Amino acid sequence: MQNTDSANYPESALDLLLSSVSETIGMGFRFSQALIRWSKQYGRQGLPWQGHKDPYAIWVSEIMLQQTQVSTVMERYPLFMRQFPTVKALATADLDAVMALWSGLGYYSRARNLHQCAQQIMEKYSGKFPNTVQELETLPGIGRSTAGAITAFAFEERAPILDANVKRVISRFFGVTGNQQNHKTVQLLWEHAIAILPKSKSQMPLYTQALMDFGATWCTPKTAKCQSQDQSCPMMRECKAYELGQVDRIPAKTKKKQSPTFTTHIFLFRYQDEILLERRPPKAIWGSLYSLIETPWEPLGEKIIHPKSIDVKDLLYQTCLANHLSKNDMDSIASIEESHAIEHIFSHRRLRMQPWIIYLKRKWSCRSAALDWIWISQLKEYGLPQPIRVFLESSSR
Ligand code: ADE
Repeated sequence: MQNTDSANYPESALDLLLSSVSETIGMGFRFSQALIRWSKQYGRQGLPWQGHKDPYAIWVSEIMLQQTQVSTVMERYPLFMRQFPTVKALATADLDAVMALWSGLGYYSRARNLHQCAQQIMEKYSGKFPNTVQELETLPGIGRSTAGAITAFAFEERAPILDANVKRVISRFFGVTGNQQNHKTVQLLWEHAIAILPKSKSQMPLYTQALMDFGATWCTPKTAKCQSQDQSCPMMRECKAYELGQVDRIPAKTKKKQSPTFTTHIFLFRYQDEILLERRPPKAIWGSLYSLIETPWEPLGEKIIHPKSIDVKDLLYQTCLANHLSKNDMDSIASIEESHAIEHIFSHRRLRMQPWIIYLKRKWSCRSAALDWIWISQLKEYGLPQPIRVFLESSSR
């Protein structure tokens, strides 16, 4: 007689697959529920962009939060929303006004993209914010993770997010050791991000914020909560990296290339209480911001600027003014003052600026639309790179 007791047979591949799928689903469910419980005690609450479902306001906050600390956004976000309370207000605003309000936040392509994106929402969607990840992802400055956050917060969609903090949380929880820059690793992380979503749509806003907060405050790069004496992390029991004693090695660190240093001379032209600013082209670094006339950026290499050995008048004439001024204009220079060099660090390069203040006996007329004489008292109305603003505020009093 045949034995029909399935317990006596080896498990079929299908059984194994089903049990692994159901285990993953169970694990995902436990993850999302533990995280939501955690956030009720430790999550960030009462932030100015929380507690409503306006996709425009959520989008602005998510873009501002991308490379900026929460404490800075807490200050700057209300100002932005006061000036541009709706997508229409932003779309019809002057780009200069948007850039001025973004001044000091860095990563200025975010501001240019916000403006352009608002215009596309007005044109393509009649001002109604799209509510799917697929549509949002086609808009300037919105990637899959930001689209996920907007749809989760505003429309309670079951859309995953995967910013740098979330990548770390998921890598540790599932023990993903692959290189984080690798397409296949990223693909796997997205799959895990989907597997741990809560089942109920109504939990999506709380869950999404909790995941961001947990990555930013507990499961941090250097001293995750579980690495300290405090063993209260709710994920610890099922966290693969913790089980393997690899929390400090997951995610794998990628080697950072040394950032190259560039040098430039910047010229502050001053006539009485007016100074000359130049609007930078949109695609350049600090694109669409106002700055000073400058010489082309050169890689530093071994070269060091020795101001004393530089013929500034020649530099002025040769490099930056040839397009805008005639040789006669040079006669109106009253004096030239050398200022302290300024170092600025971008995410992937450093810039060393040597400023010169050029006092003029008469004001030059501008022959380029990019040039503007402005009153020193008007500086606040212009979008300027932060180091240039600091320099101007300290040197044009
Ligand atoms: N970073 C990106 N989005 C965020 C949010 N909603 N809260 C806190 N930090 C964030």
